[in-house]
Amino acid sequence: MAKLNLKSITREAKKEIERSKNLKDLDFIFKKYLGKKSEVSQALRLFKDLSGKEKQKIGKEINTFKNSFKKEIKNKIERIKKEDNKVSGKKDWFDITIPGKKIESGHLHPLTMTKRRIEEIFQKMGFEIAQGSEIETAWYNFDALNIPTDHPARDAWNTLWLKEKDKNGEQFLLRTHTSPMQIHYMEKHNPPLRLIVPGKTFRREATDASHNFQFYQVEGLMVDKNVSIPHLKAVISNFFRLFFNKKVEVRLRPDFFPFTEPSFEISMSCLACGGKGCKVCKKTGWLEMGGSGMIHPNVLKACKLDPKKWQGWAFGFGWDRLAMMRYKIKEIRMFNAGNLRFLKQF
Ligand code: DAH
Repeated sequence: MAKLNLKSITREAKKEIERSKNLKDLDFIFKKYLGKKSEVSQALRLFKDLSGKEKQKIGKEINTFKNSFKKEIKNKIERIKKEDNKVSGKKDWFDITIPGKKIESGHLHPLTMTKRRIEEIFQKMGFEIAQGSEIETAWYNFDALNIPTDHPARDAWNTLWLKEKDKNGEQFLLRTHTSPMQIHYMEKHNPPLRLIVPGKTFRREATDASHNFQFYQVEGLMVDKNVSIPHLKAVISNFFRLFFNKKVEVRLRPDFFPFTEPSFEISMSCLACGGKGCKVCKKTGWLEMGGSGMIHPNVLKACKLDPKKWQGWAFGFGWDRLAMMRYKIKEIRMFNAGNLRFLKQF
């Protein structure tokens, strides 16, 4: 084995590490002293030929060298890094002139904005707001509203029935309109009443640009000793005028709903043509908005109110339609499509 002068190697290595200026220098030094071609590695290759005693002695010396050499290198790396940070100021300096990252702020969904506007207007007219439950029983959704068992609205085509039943064995369903809340409210509150119920409703329906199986309705209700259709028309006209910020004509035409008598279809003058007749209103000048009427005596009776003492009117219309007209949206299904490009426009 060639004579290995570890003392002088240690000294040389130390000097070189001392003089090194960067990590690249250190890499070079490391390879020179411990790399494959280094004196130490060459000596180790002949190690197996040594006698036991020599092996012990030289092995120990080499290990001591290796450990101190590696330690020197490590310390130098630390020092170089510290120097670098001081120069570039990476650690405790930042450029306050760089513009901050802009945090994108979201906004309310167009349906929520519409709902809030509806609530605001009716609240100013003295109406309370109730929510109601999206799951109802047939009693509240149909029977109490004077909708008989053979009425087509109860058909499987329209109603989404749930498997679950309430404690009286009545099957649950997803409410097909917001009208059941009329019953809940009249059961718990004594007239006079003024109420609106904006909420989600469901029907088993094929979808198209203006129909969805999930949609939104707002129900209105007024019960007092002396209320009549002129009040209804005034409230609705006022609402449309404030909602669209325009003078809007309201038309009531006879219709049929089991829970009102007499019943009316509510239409408003077409906003697109001002009532002259266009594509939007199918040349009629009118847009159908919903239904209304004087609350049927049977409904008052179902809520334990005396129809001889109390009377009232009710209405219901779809507020996703209102949102569509307000924001000029042609496709109802866009509201729930989760499409950010669509939603960011409002
Ligand atoms: N619930 C009816 C529907 O979904 C709409 C309606 C009509 C509500 C007349 C009313 C009303 O309160 O009086 O088609």
